[in-house]
Amino acid sequence: MSKPDPARQLIEHLATSLADGTFVRLILSRPVRPKGELVKVFARCVQLKRQPHLSFTFRYSTKDITKNMSLPAGIEWVRNHLGREFRSALLSTTQRDWQFSALESGGYRIVAHQPAITQAPPRDHDQPRKSILDESAHDWLQGLGVIDATGKVRDRMADKHRQINRYLEIFSHLADDCGWRVLGGTGDQPVPSGDPPDGTAESFKNQSSAAFASGFTSMPVGESPPGAGGSPALPELQGAELLIGDMGCGKGYLTFGVWHLFRRIWHIRARVIGVEVRPDLADSSAKLAREIGAEGLEFIPGTIDSAELPRIDGLIALHACNTATDHAILRGIELGAKLILLAPCCHKELRPQMAHPEALAAVLRHGIMEERMAEWITDGLRALSLEWAGYCTKMFEFVSAEHTAKNLMISAVRGRRPFTSASARDHIVQLKSFFKIQSHLLDPLLDETACLNHSPTG
Ligand SMILES: C[S@@+](CC[C@H](N)C(=O)[O-])C[C@H]1O[C@@H](n2cnc3c(N)ncnc32)[C@H](O)[C@@H]1O
Repeated sequence: MSKPDPARQLIEHLATSLADGTFVRLILSRPVRPKGELVKVFARCVQLKRQPHLSFTFRYSTKDITKNMSLPAGIEWVRNHLGREFRSALLSTTQRDWQFSALESGGYRIVAHQPAITQAPPRDHDQPRKSILDESAHDWLQGLGVIDATGKVRDRMADKHRQINRYLEIFSHLADDCGWRVLGGTGDQPVPSGDPPDGTAESFKNQSSAAFASGFTSMPVGESPPGAGGSPALPELQGAELLIGDMGCGKGYLTFGVWHLFRRIWHIRARVIGVEVRPDLADSSAKLAREIGAEGLEFIPGTIDSAELPRIDGLIALHACNTATDHAILRGIELGAKLILLAPCCHKELRPQMAHPEALAAVLRHGIMEERMAEWITDGLRALSLEWAGYCTKMFEFVSAEHTAKNLMISAVRGRRPFTSASARDHIVQLKSFFKIQSHLLDPLLDETACLNHSPTG
């Protein structure tokens, strides 16, 4: 008897779970045309006009679009796209999770796992959106002086409050891309298992490096949110803990923020470590963390390049001065971070070395234009270096320029075999050569042997 087709099996499990109420969610990933804008599709079941529907969220590189379909139409849509447009899918039901994935040898397979979530999420369509900086954030926001004793944002801290909120929203989207939490619902439940990172499942499994494997094994084990019941962790993940490092954390606004997001909003077991060169700041943040009983939140006095850190899953660095951002990039790569999220600060390294190519010389004689070009090159080289190191990068403005001029953000999600794409390396070499840049802090990444030193270690 011939083996049943994996795509057809997944569709059958999808239809059955929708019919018997055990459906939790579906994620389609690894688009066949990765250059296309559509990155992932998430589906959840919602009740509309008293009828169950599939609500699809189409995640594009810059936006989300939601479309609701009746169950037959939704199932048909999945049937038409599974394996054709998307090489990977994770169907979660309260009985079993089903992982559909492309094989390197061609074809597909479907593998069953223990269910990560054993209670179906609520089906109400418009659940009230939970604000990230809700009342449960008041203790640390007050401790950091962002809000007053009544919970009101202090006038002079309005931009900071907005920045923290925006940053955490962006981080939430990227956490989805990394498979760190479930989209939709209350956002209270952790993502448990192998939703393979874009384009990586097979290639990363083939890597010998423990850290590459950790892209799968260090997925967070969730603590059940209150009242959620169930056992969210797959057996092999039990005991694992998600680890995020905040480099140059200053007073710790974002360190507290990210900790709050994982621990208090998503109820995911995570450890968040802030690294700060000024011991007075590290000490006062650590004191506040102790006062509010922030378990899993730590602050280490020290420099980004020398602080002793374990392997990490995510690295953030907001406005780390000058080359501190580059040190953060090197640490993130070396420590095997799946996600690196940066907002660069001042740029001093390249401007003194930068040549004025003839075609640009008449413009670059203006100091402000030279300064902006130096910033452009510095951040461009950072993004290219991350690409070379196997990350998929995006660059965008994260808050409006009227709140801060330092509003560029670079996000990088590890998704390819590092240090293998000749074209990624060529782009760096060509850009440096065009502006006659002799020395750059990320240069060690270009050196063949040094690449090994900057490859992730366990
Ligand atoms: C502009 S502040 C940003 C603080 C914080 N990330 C935020 O956005 O609120 C930059 C911080 O990075 C710290 N810093 C700069 N270079 C560093 C390094 N090499 N290692 C550790 N901390 C550093 C500074 O002391 C300062 O507190």
